[in-house]
Amino acid sequence: MVDLITVDKENRVFHLHNEQLSYIFSIEDGDTISHLYFGKRVKSYHGQLCYPRVDRGFSGNLPGSLDRTFSKDTLPQEYSSAGEMDYRVPATVVRQKDGSNGLMLKYKTYKVEEGKPELAGLPAAYVESESEANTLIVTLEDEKSGVLFDLLYTIYRDYPIITRSVKVKNLGQENVNLEKVASMQIDFSQRDFDVISLPGAHVNERHLERQKLGYGIQTFGSIRGTSSHQMNPFVALVDSNTDEFNGAAYGFALVYSGNHAFEIEKDQLDQVRLLVGINGYNFNWQLPAGESFQTPEVLMTYTDNGLNAMSKAFHNIIRDRITRSKYKYKERPILVNNWEATYFDFDEDKLKPIVDEAKELGIEMFVLDDGWFGHRDDDNSSLGDWNVYEKKFPQGLKHFADYVHSKDLKFGIWFEPEMISMDSELYRNHPEYLMQVPGRQPSPSRNQYILDMTRKDVRDDIVDQVSTIIADNDIDYVKWDMNRNLSDIYSQNLPADRQGEVYHRYVLGVYDILERITSKFPDVLFEGCSGGGGRFDAGFVYYMPQSWTSDNTDAIARLTIQYGTSLVYPPSMMTAHVSAVPNHQTGRVTPIDTRGAVAMSAVFGYELDLTTLTDEEKEIVKKQVNQYKDIRKLVQYGDFYRLQSSKDGNKTAWMFISPQKDEAVVMVCKVLAEAQPVLTKTKLYGLDTNRNYRDVETNKVYGGDELMELGFYDPIIRNDYAATMYHFKAE
Ligand code: GLA
Repeated sequence: MVDLITVDKENRVFHLHNEQLSYIFSIEDGDTISHLYFGKRVKSYHGQLCYPRVDRGFSGNLPGSLDRTFSKDTLPQEYSSAGEMDYRVPATVVRQKDGSNGLMLKYKTYKVEEGKPELAGLPAAYVESESEANTLIVTLEDEKSGVLFDLLYTIYRDYPIITRSVKVKNLGQENVNLEKVASMQIDFSQRDFDVISLPGAHVNERHLERQKLGYGIQTFGSIRGTSSHQMNPFVALVDSNTDEFNGAAYGFALVYSGNHAFEIEKDQLDQVRLLVGINGYNFNWQLPAGESFQTPEVLMTYTDNGLNAMSKAFHNIIRDRITRSKYKYKERPILVNNWEATYFDFDEDKLKPIVDEAKELGIEMFVLDDGWFGHRDDDNSSLGDWNVYEKKFPQGLKHFADYVHSKDLKFGIWFEPEMISMDSELYRNHPEYLMQVPGRQPSPSRNQYILDMTRKDVRDDIVDQVSTIIADNDIDYVKWDMNRNLSDIYSQNLPADRQGEVYHRYVLGVYDILERITSKFPDVLFEGCSGGGGRFDAGFVYYMPQSWTSDNTDAIARLTIQYGTSLVYPPSMMTAHVSAVPNHQTGRVTPIDTRGAVAMSAVFGYELDLTTLTDEEKEIVKKQVNQYKDIRKLVQYGDFYRLQSSKDGNKTAWMFISPQKDEAVVMVCKVLAEAQPVLTKTKLYGLDTNRNYRDVETNKVYGGDELMELGFYDPIIRNDYAATMYHFKAE
């Protein structure tokens, strides 16, 4: 039963609605689809937003029409194209056989369905039963070329989420080229917005950035071939008074791991257009007659309860309906990873004592990072040769895996399967596998190169090699890394006029191998990684339920990184480790309690040489491990609220609360100590006002309302970087 989509056939109005949201559009003159409303649920629509007619200079009219008061240039549209008279940035550009970009999209038909269709070859939100979502497919047609655009809208019943994507079908006689196909467009009539984005860098990812939206066209995007450290595939448009707890926020996240663009234009009438999709840079997709092209999907949400509510909508849909792994609701093991402990300088004998110590401390998994394969002693060789380095494991990898298992620990391993070193057997045997423009020298980055993932033979080779290692060595966990961005964009398998497809085909190729390997090994826990958080997006999580948040393990730097990341992504997706001090990335010395508190705010682990810890530190680690086991379910699967960001002052605070509101964990970190300390307070959020909560540490009892309205004073600690954790249980 389709009950979340109402179609008023007489007035040609489409209304998607659930308890929280309404999204409305109608068909206007020239069979143009006009956006009317996206926001809080309304029961019905009675035509009050019918496009006001005005004759405006320099905004032209429909072809063949004498009506000067109707212009696509000012109409809030649902999906625009180059080639029609709309001078705002277009959602699509189609190059026709005649060389023009002529395209006049007109409404043709619609279809409503129960459930949600899968997007072939692409990650997307899914349904567990047909009744939990309805889908509307609106078809637009360019009559002259026979090119059709299906606009797909799915609305969920119990999530404040609408997903959107576009499928282009060439039903004409001629080939066309898609130079741009946004996954969605939304036009807001006059509105002052702030834009929130998540820019960053390697070891400095996803900082919450907020700016007033001015006139002109602004793009938040990536052309690095991946979703990138530099600009995460997300933006929010919010009112100027919106904060974490109050105010209107529209959030948009792209379910895609490649080049992306979030284009925002504030126009001459203060209208705001947002386009989200694959970046048009070096994109040129040949669409022969009879073929179709599916764009990635966008998750859209709206709330008038501030940024925490927006994040909750994203967290829930990503965790419940994008993550597919068997581990999606399973408590993730506490691991120790040997990267910052040993880097490349290890062998079986050196690792065993770390494994022994991990066992002593209650840690549950040992992860063997980079350097176990080929003849890899540094980062100059062996990528592509996924066989065991005998010098480091003279009795084979299985021998070491058995040792780890004999200690009752799980065994995990690192791969970087999309890469190739010139110093590798793979390159010597298959130089054509390396992505390279003919006759030009490819550019190294970390002295490594990219495998041409658009090629099936390359993908088959990688799937075989990785599968053999996993199967032969009883691997429980895989960290899937990618340590450079794409360059030398060219595939020897594609003709000259199809090289504009390489970026996207690369991503499709990666998705293909991820799908094959993860479905072949359903019991393995997979973790995504790209030099830390360089491919931390809503697409990758479809294959791998968790991702390494950042190569920066410094607790203070992590405050900002994890704060920003939480804007879109749930704690169950973020991994965080306690590492040694001075920190290897920043040189900062922070207390072990603080390192623990920050790392325990995500999927927890250690990344240091456990054998070098003092006895006192070992006791602390044991305590942390036990504490995390106690709060793990709450942290990984509870609701997360940001309380205060250190960007606004000297303090970061956030909390986790169980869905039943019977347990909460709070983390407060004061960055710098003060000689004359200001008396700051932390007020909690989301508790039950009618219940009492006991502080597990002090046994003091407080009302939920007290903790939220009065709050409590933060402790005065005469040390920099001091974090405190609180654990409350409802009585
Ligand atoms: C990347 C990862 C690190 C580590 C190294 C190994 O930088 O993010 O955690 O695995 O690669 O080379």
